[in-house]
Amino acid sequence: MKRTLTTVLAALSLACSWPSLAQKTASQGIDEYRAMLQDGNPADLFEAKGEGLWTQKRGPKNASLEKCDLGKGPGVYKGAFVELPKYFADTGKVQDLESRLLTCMDTLQGLNVTEIAKTGFGKGEQINMTALATFIAAESKGMKFNLSQAHPSEKTFYEVGKRLFFQRGGPHDFACASCHAEDGKRIRLQDLPNLTKNPGDGVGFAAWPAYRVSNGQMWGMQQRLNDCYRQQRFPYPGFASDATIALGVYLGVNSQGSASIAPAIKR
Ligand code: HEC
Repeated sequence: MKRTLTTVLAALSLACSWPSLAQKTASQGIDEYRAMLQDGNPADLFEAKGEGLWTQKRGPKNASLEKCDLGKGPGVYKGAFVELPKYFADTGKVQDLESRLLTCMDTLQGLNVTEIAKTGFGKGEQINMTALATFIAAESKGMKFNLSQAHPSEKTFYEVGKRLFFQRGGPHDFACASCHAEDGKRIRLQDLPNLTKNPGDGVGFAAWPAYRVSNGQMWGMQQRLNDCYRQQRFPYPGFASDATIALGVYLGVNSQGSASIAPAIKR
């Protein structure tokens, strides 16, 4: 990893100083930088940790998560990620990957999931949550998003998610749409995908969980949304809250047919 980063930094400074390379467009340069990053994604470590946690007996009930139903039947995790969020009859709720994992940690392992949901990102059980989400997402790598809109609640969540996406507020009067509703927008080196339509394979919803090189952290979708709420100067509605899940349904349905590259590696 260290070598990869050194290579990347060297290439970046070259791109800035060498006239022939400087003629590359910024987005070509960014694409090359991203390609170099793919070499050795630390997300692999989180994926391995998550796989271990899935089979490990934990919590007051001393049970593993191996019977967890992520929507394709107890214990089936392959292909589950690209169909989430979806409606679950046992809880009567539309759930995303992270909220569904909470349900399984509660029912199977007896863990205090209210506490887990309140725990800050990157702390305590939230670290395990990220590892589990990374593992489950990785099991659908390359598969195409195919969210259901058959249940009335799934349709409602899509409509609510869409409204939340366009809802302006906060000190800057920003909505998600202020940054993510036009093609070709960028803040500094970061592309801002247009999330009001299908942004394509491995973009937007189809890239998270992702390892972030800039801060050396692994982030799940909930943490991605949390940070975008921060950019919007808006309070985060809470881990696994209905509002975040509704946004997930909106983004996920818009990504219909696009391939997932999660866990990705990001700047
Ligand atoms: C002030 C601008 C701004 C606002 C408002 C904003 N975002 Fe973002 N968003 C960003 C930036 C910048 C990135 C890229 C971050 C990076 O590369 O580290 C991003 C990345 C994302 C991504 C991942 C894109 C990818 O391909 O990796 C998603 C999904 C996302 N935002 C959703 C949202 C949602 C949903 C909202 C509203 C709750 C929102 N954003 C509000 C600036 C914003």
